Amino acid sequence: MLRRLALIAGCAVAFNAAAQGLFDDNEARRRIELLRQSLEAQNRSIDERLAKIELLAGDKNALLEFASQMEQLRNDVAGMRGQVEVLANQAESLAKRQTELYQDIDTRLLKLEKAREQQGALPEKPPAQSAEPDLEIELVNLADVRIGFADGRAPDAYGDDTAAVVNRIVAADIVVLASPVYRASFTGALKNLLDHLPVEALMAKPCGIVAMGATAHHYLGVEWHLRDVLTWFGAIVPPTGVYLSSADFVDGNLVDSAKADLASLADALIKLQTISPVSGKPLGPLPLSARRP
Ligand SMILES: Cc1cc2nc3c(=O)[nH]c(=O)nc-3n(C[C@H](O)[C@H](O)[C@H](O)COP(=O)(O)O)c2cc1C
Repeated sequence: MLRRLALIAGCAVAFNAAAQGLFDDNEARRRIELLRQSLEAQNRSIDERLAKIELLAGDKNALLEFASQMEQLRNDVAGMRGQVEVLANQAESLAKRQTELYQDIDTRLLKLEKAREQQGALPEKPPAQSAEPDLEIELVNLADVRIGFADGRAPDAYGDDTAAVVNRIVAADIVVLASPVYRASFTGALKNLLDHLPVEALMAKPCGIVAMGATAHHYLGVEWHLRDVLTWFGAIVPPTGVYLSSADFVDGNLVDSAKADLASLADALIKLQTISPVSGKPLGPLPLSARRP
């Protein structure tokens, strides 16, 4: 009995299985739908994975680019290190050279000082003597000062002796201009200094002229041209100047006649100073150069 029951039960199970294998249209559609959904899910998953892979591939390119830039930077740094080394060497050589030059200058100065000591202290250039006790005389030798090439700027713009020399002339009550004859005229160095002077520097100021040439041939060369320029300033120029030539010197000393001429010029200038108006005022009409439009 037991065995039969078991058999029946077995048949019932077998029947159910057969009934399940024979599904209808609805069941088929349901399964297809499930299959479709499963496929779509798989597609989505593949898409996502592909996107990740693409992203990773993009990152890889950036990494490659980064690596190449790093390499380039490494090369640049290596190049710069080389340049720094070269510069450091150059700086070292320059410092060495500078030390050598300082030592050289030092040695030369020491030699000069010793030579000076052996000769005894050189006397200072004696100040120019004047018979007039109230007269203070200053000598400006253009060979000893640096005057800038006049280009219209103010005298203190040149950074040399220009402003100091101009100021000394401006401050003087009397000026004597002395020049060797150069090519039948006065020197370019003197003209350059005159080009720096404001018109007021010599206006109505007694100005004497002393010239010197190799011979007497050009005795009016300096005076003629300087008078022109001094007229531009409205200076008071005595009617005669002093002309010297090589013959006026004996053993480097001025002959008496030449000394007398110079003294006479000085007298004339001192006299003219008594008729000179206060500084900045003309004697007579204002020079054209001082007229402002
Ligand atoms: C460039 C130059 C140009 C000169 N031109 C003249 C000139 O035209 N006439 C003249 O008499 N002397 C001329 N001299 C000579 C100088 O006037 C002379 O050397 C100066 O007065 C100083 O005299 P010393 O050489 O006897 O010391 C000239 C000198 C130089 C250097």
